[in-house]
Amino acid sequence: MEKEKNWWKKEIIYQIYPKSFKDSNHDGIGDLKGIIEKLPYLKELGVTTLWICPIFSSPMVDNGYDIADFEDINPQFGTMEDVDFLLAEAKKFDLKVMLDLVINHTSDEHVWFQKALADKDSPYRDYYIFKEGKEPPNNWRSIFGGSVWEKVPNEECYYLHVFDKRQPDLNWENREMRQELYAMINRWLEKGIAGFRIDSITFIKKDQDYGSLPADGVDGLVSCKEKTRNRPGIENFLHELRRETFDKHNCVTVGEAPGVSYEEFPTYVGEDGYFSMIFDFHYADIDVESGSDWFKRTNWTTVEFKDLLMQSQAALQNAGWGANFIENHDQPRALSKFVAQEFQSADSALGLGAMYFFLRGTPFIYQGQELGMVNAERTSISQFDDISSIDNYARSIKEGFSEKEALRFVNQRSRDNSRTPMPWNDSQYGGFSDQKPWLSMTEEYPKVNAIGNSVFKGYKKMISLRQQSVISDILQVGDIAFIDNLPEAVIGYRRIAKTGSLISYTNFSSEKVAFELEKPINELHFDSHNQTFSGTKIELLPYQSILISE
Ligand code: NOJ
Repeated sequence: MEKEKNWWKKEIIYQIYPKSFKDSNHDGIGDLKGIIEKLPYLKELGVTTLWICPIFSSPMVDNGYDIADFEDINPQFGTMEDVDFLLAEAKKFDLKVMLDLVINHTSDEHVWFQKALADKDSPYRDYYIFKEGKEPPNNWRSIFGGSVWEKVPNEECYYLHVFDKRQPDLNWENREMRQELYAMINRWLEKGIAGFRIDSITFIKKDQDYGSLPADGVDGLVSCKEKTRNRPGIENFLHELRRETFDKHNCVTVGEAPGVSYEEFPTYVGEDGYFSMIFDFHYADIDVESGSDWFKRTNWTTVEFKDLLMQSQAALQNAGWGANFIENHDQPRALSKFVAQEFQSADSALGLGAMYFFLRGTPFIYQGQELGMVNAERTSISQFDDISSIDNYARSIKEGFSEKEALRFVNQRSRDNSRTPMPWNDSQYGGFSDQKPWLSMTEEYPKVNAIGNSVFKGYKKMISLRQQSVISDILQVGDIAFIDNLPEAVIGYRRIAKTGSLISYTNFSSEKVAFELEKPINELHFDSHNQTFSGTKIELLPYQSILISE
């Protein structure tokens, strides 16, 4: 059946980090066949679309976000036949599959880059950003640390990398390069995938002056973001990208778009926007001043969180559509980030879940979030795999923090927190693999796993409310309006559609909070803490969330 326009508004998207989802071939690394094995689990949960993080051929310096061949599959994960089989099997379960599109940069092992390096006069040199000179052209710091410039061996020349030195940036000013990317994207879409999550897409346009800025760290460098992220002129590239690819298919496109102001949201997700929806990081990154400087921690408050959430939802509603999330493979676990340790429980995991799940937009669930997983505490920097964790540790020490403090920042923010193997049961290695996994399991896995998990049951209930209940329409397409005059700790919003309205209240604090409702509860649709309520007087436990009709 032909999909309706904007079908993606009604989806529930489940993010899979393939390396950590399920190992089928006994090497301690998750793979495509492992995903196929777990399709019944995903169907049982009730999600409707899968987003699979990069599975393409890659040296795995950044776990697949360093692609060596866009149209070949990393043998660690399987083969192209496995991809075809996954697409066919998923279809049987009525599950759609989205892939990750990483087109700001490639791996240094991509053939284009290899040719560019080998021959100065190769046309591929202009597929990347090379600048001649004895010194690096400016003082920009890359997201994963150090200068964005790497010297070309045996030449007085540098190439630019916004991320790791093994992730050279593509030169979007080059028309042939863009055309090659569009052809690749169209081939994937023709293969029958549902669409893409689009990586780091706001970085594709660089300020062409390549000018230095005042240093912002003891390394004498400055974050490259001001000069490389969401810069004027990007609109031409993004319009062209959409026109040449996505517009030709009824697909979903989810932009990873940090650095876009609320005023600019209409250009990104409006009627003629570049994408179906974008991730907004304003409240996800509330615990740090910037997602890439983990030692710059904030003392955020519930009121600030509430304000950011309101602003974000208002901007998305005003502009178009949003992708709602509290976790992903770059973020710590939400329970560890938002909830004080003594209150971290299955109930509060569900409370957090219900707080964001009923917002207006498409909900995303990151693997393990539906189990109430928490961060993995590590005792030494040698236990981390993630390049960004290693860099943040070194940078914190350079900035004057002790090793202990540096380790604490990394433990709080490391991307390895959410990349631990999925705990399917309490057996050795959690049923993820029968071999030692590439990254250690969380300590909690004997208790927090997919067997008899109450958070899972709660997520299943939330999903069925949104997808198959009398209130589905309100949850899927209703407008959102935040409720004023509530106690500071309470986040309250109404979802309003032609067919009715609902109210969500969440106590986003570690104190009980009591307040009076305007009208008595008519129906309690969801309660993270399984309590009974009557009348208009209400008391919410720490991190309790309810969804009601008046
Ligand atoms: C954002 C991805 O989510 C992250 O995992 C990756 O390291 C960078 N982009 C670079 O591709």
